[in-house]
Amino acid sequence: MCWRRYWHGIHLEPSKWSVAWEETLAESYNKQITRKNFLQGAGAAFAGLATGQLPAVSQAIINSQEPLRIGIIGSGRIGGAVGLKWAEAGHHIFFSSRHPEELTDLVASAGEHAQAGLPDAAARFGDVILIAVPYAALPQVGRDYSSLMQGKIVIDCGNPRADRDGPMADAAIALGTGVASANFLPGVRLVRSFSCVSWIQVQQAPRSPERIGIPIAADDEEAARVTARLVEDTGFDPVFVGGLERAREFDRGTPVYVRGMSAAELRETLGL
Ligand SMILES: NC(=O)c1ccc[n+]([C@@H]2O[C@H](COP(=O)([O-])OP(=O)(O)OC[C@H]3O[C@@H](n4cnc5c(N)ncnc54)[C@H](OP(=O)(O)O)[C@@H]3O)[C@@H](O)[C@H]2O)c1
Repeated sequence: MCWRRYWHGIHLEPSKWSVAWEETLAESYNKQITRKNFLQGAGAAFAGLATGQLPAVSQAIINSQEPLRIGIIGSGRIGGAVGLKWAEAGHHIFFSSRHPEELTDLVASAGEHAQAGLPDAAARFGDVILIAVPYAALPQVGRDYSSLMQGKIVIDCGNPRADRDGPMADAAIALGTGVASANFLPGVRLVRSFSCVSWIQVQQAPRSPERIGIPIAADDEEAARVTARLVEDTGFDPVFVGGLERAREFDRGTPVYVRGMSAAELRETLGL
C-alpha cells in the first residue's frame, strides 16, 4: 500500500472503555460533554475497579500529559490520517506497514517524532497501539502481535464488511465488533474507537463551529481515558458509550456510522 496513493493532490498542513459502569456512565453523559466531565464521569464509573493492578507503564501514561508512544498497525487511509493528527499533537508515532519503505512521505509529513517500520516493531514501540487494518487481517494481526501488546492499550478501528472481508465479517457483525475483536486480541486493553469516522473527516478535523463526536467503547477505565485524550487530540469530542459489548451500537450500518454527528447528537441517538 502506497500512502501517496491516497494523499496525492491533497494539501496537508505540515507538522498535527464490564457491566455496571455502562449505565452509570451513560447517565452521566446525558448532557453536554467536555473533556473534563468525560474524564470525571469515567473515573466515577470505574471507581470500583482495581486500577492498582494495572501495568505501571499505563499508570504513568494516564497520570501524565506527556507525549505518548503510539504504534500504528495499518498506516493506510485511516491509520495514516489519525497518525498525522497525533503527530501534530506532539505524540511519538511509529507508523507500520509490511512495506515500510512506502511510508517515507507519511513519516516526513508527520515530522521529527515519527518513524516507520514493520508491524511487530510498532507493536513493541507503542504504549498505545492503533490497529487500522482490513478486518479480515485482524485474526492474523492478533496471532502474530498480541504477545507483543500484552497489557497495552489497543485501539481497534477496523470495520468488518463481507464484501471485502468475506464470511468472517458476518460473524463479527453478529457478535458485535467489541466482542469479536476482543476474541482476536487476547490480553490487550482493548478499545473500540475511530471506527465510525472517515479518514476525510479526520483530515478535516476539527470541524467548526461544532466538533464531530467519536464513540468510545472499552472495558478498561484507563484505556478509555487515554483514548478520550487521543480523540481530543485529533480534533473530535469523545463520547463514551460503554463496555466493549456496546461497541456494536456504533458499528457499520448503525444510525451513527460516519454521519458526522456532534457529541450531543451522538448521545441523543444512542440514548446516552
Ligand atoms: N478509510 C476510512 O475512512 C476508515 C474509517 C474508519 C475505519 N476504517 C477501517 O479501518 C481499517 C483500515 O481501513 P483503511 O481505509 O485505512 O484501509 P487501507 O487504506 O487499505 O489501509 C489498510 C492498511 O492495513 C495494512 N495491512 C493490511 N493487511 C495487513 C496485515 N495482515 N498486517 C499488517 N498490516 C496490514 C496495509 O498496509 P501494508 O499493505 O502496507 O502492510 C494498509 O496500509 C478497515 O477495517 C476499515 O473498515 C476505515
